Amino acid sequence: MTQDELKKATAEAALQRILPHLEDDMIIGIGTGSTANFFIDALAEHRNSFDGCVASSEASADRLKQHGIPVYDLNSVSELRFYIDGADETNEHLHLIKGGGAALTREKIVAAVSKEFICIADGSKKVGVLGEFPLPVEVIPMARSHVARELVKLGGDPAYREGVMTDNGNIILDVWNLKITDAVALEQKINQIVGVVTNGLFAARPADVLLLGTAEGVETIKP
Ligand code: A5P
Repeated sequence: MTQDELKKATAEAALQRILPHLEDDMIIGIGTGSTANFFIDALAEHRNSFDGCVASSEASADRLKQHGIPVYDLNSVSELRFYIDGADETNEHLHLIKGGGAALTREKIVAAVSKEFICIADGSKKVGVLGEFPLPVEVIPMARSHVARELVKLGGDPAYREGVMTDNGNIILDVWNLKITDAVALEQKINQIVGVVTNGLFAARPADVLLLGTAEGVETIKP
């Protein structure tokens, strides 16, 4: 199976998982990236079984709207029953690295409001120790050099993601060469650097369930 086929299989598994719970007035949180796109396309087939979605990026909002699915402002919603999103890396605790698509801050906000975060990923994303994928950090543009120096002090090698501006008007530093053995502590430490909006570690609020696409089928993993 190709990586795309594995991603599609996890998206379909997520859909099957939430289908029995859909209600007319339900609003669903939607992530960003190619795996989330497969989920959006699958969800669109059931357009009349729920109310609408909150999107974690302009790109996902556009895709939802193209399917005729209403997209709500998060401020008009008090709780999301489900949040479905991909990841760049995950460990056995379902701590994640996210932000390969630069949507980490909105993703973290939508995940925070959600009752159940269902992560969908192909098998290549599961690792023993997080950090081979460079950790994305969203930074206020004027703080770029300051934040980069502070990240070096934490043992990482930050690289400016050229030509990328987030939906919030900020820049991304990708931090290489981190071996993340305490994701909860590192997430907090990086977020304390002045000028950081947030970082792509999802450890304080990990996924609740991981649907991992493998050649043998979709595995359901809980922390
Ligand atoms: C977007 O900013 C990311 O957090 C994505 O969720 C992550 O990059 C996964 O992307 P794919 O589903 O395209 O692999």
